[in-house]
Amino acid sequence: CGFEPIFLGYSRCVLKPKTTEEVAKILAFCNNNRIAVCPQGGNTGLVGGSVPVFDEIVLCTSQMNTIYSINDTSGVLVCQAGCILENLDKALEEHGLMMPLDLGAKGSCHIGGNLSTNAGGLRLLRYGNLHGTVLGLEAVKADGEIIDLLSTLKKDNTGFHLKHLFIGSEGALGVVTKVAIQCPAKPKATNLAFLGLESFSHILKVLKKAKGDLGEILASCEMIDQSTLDVCTCNLKLKSPLAEFPFYMLIETHGSSDAHDQEKLNLFLEDVMLSKLILDGIVTNEPSKMKNIWDLRERITEGFVRDGYVFKYDISLPIEHFYSLVPVMRERLAGTEGIVRVSGYGHLGDGNVHFQVSCKQFSNEILHQIEPFVYEYTSKLRGSISAEHGIGFRKPKYIHYSKSPESIVIMKELKKMFDPNGILNPYKVLPM
Ligand code: FAD
Ligand code: MLT
Ligand code: ZN
Repeated sequence: CGFEPIFLGYSRCVLKPKTTEEVAKILAFCNNNRIAVCPQGGNTGLVGGSVPVFDEIVLCTSQMNTIYSINDTSGVLVCQAGCILENLDKALEEHGLMMPLDLGAKGSCHIGGNLSTNAGGLRLLRYGNLHGTVLGLEAVKADGEIIDLLSTLKKDNTGFHLKHLFIGSEGALGVVTKVAIQCPAKPKATNLAFLGLESFSHILKVLKKAKGDLGEILASCEMIDQSTLDVCTCNLKLKSPLAEFPFYMLIETHGSSDAHDQEKLNLFLEDVMLSKLILDGIVTNEPSKMKNIWDLRERITEGFVRDGYVFKYDISLPIEHFYSLVPVMRERLAGTEGIVRVSGYGHLGDGNVHFQVSCKQFSNEILHQIEPFVYEYTSKLRGSISAEHGIGFRKPKYIHYSKSPESIVIMKELKKMFDPNGILNPYKVLPM
């Protein structure tokens, strides 16, 4: 997938079923013949989960792209797993609705892939994660059995909530074939502020104030450090509307009255400006200007690739430690040859930092200076070594930094129960 040599995939066979029944037949055949299967959606995952690494065939959902229903009143969307996120958003727009999640990969990723990774994204702060918004799903077990969990009800406490096992299980327990998801109303008013700040301690103060002052209209709160912004401005030649500052914040509001939201946002900005919590800032509700600002955030992944090789980490930390890894690592790597930048950005409102070390080319020496230190650091703070991208092929041997031995045993037992022959995404998620 362009980030790490070991993610280069190889497979002699790619199957693109159109229906659940075809998925069931493929899996039953593979199970009987002990053929390993790598489920694949849009192939935008960042931990190698969708890449066939050894002997797997690829089962790709790209032909499973039917939207079955959109209910204007309840906001429930039912569709096949291979629908592209952005296409769903466009279809919902005609009904005054939108998808509850939004990510930079929206033009390629599939909703089935989103569920399987429990994707977070840019508006999780407001609309919550997929464990909350997914009402039901259909999945096919490794032996070809179809499990109908496709409820469209908001409330249903009849026994165990099996759908949650498939959300975030990265194709290891079954192939998700259909999805029912609760979609919020598309906001009538959207405003975006882009702020320049002096330090991370100021960012924390502005975050707290944004939660308090913007309350119910706060939809997104992201941060970027200067070194990260450079990958957009220098590598991709995007224009920033602000001068250079050590840190930046993007704060988006969603509401039903533009006048009301602008009044709130302007008062908030006036306060943070007067109290010198921010050094500069702009606010806009013009779609083209908002897009230009969001490009500075959404195209970071693409910008980093131009540095050369990128060591990427997707970490949850207690909010006061959100940025602490960056200075610690800068010191640890000081003087190391070949490093282009050590930087952090991410979903501030959700405590999820994306920490990157980019270098001219892959180096084992640099790798060993970063790992396992980065995981030990995260574990000591009781953080998560994967906040939203998953474990995939990249991190099974590090899962113990975030999961207790007892929970790993239970995960292995569940895997055995759902996939006794281990045909679904072997080599991924769980340690051998
Ligand atoms: P794939 O990459 O194809 O697969 C991901 C995993 O799910 C694999 O393990 C695969 O085997 C499994 N899988 C796929 N489809 C199915 C299925 N139908 N049934 C069972 N298993 C399946 N992630 C975030 O969480 N937040 C972000 O903000 C975010 N931003 C991104 C921005 C960019 C530019 C890029 C490139 C990636 C970003 N990602 C982000 C990562 C990625 O887009 C998400 O993980 C996304 O949900 C993956 O969807 P996909 O369809 O591409 O899945
Ligand atoms: C993001 O928030 O931009 C993503 O999760 C992608 C990444 O970390 O590269
Ligand atoms: Zn992210």
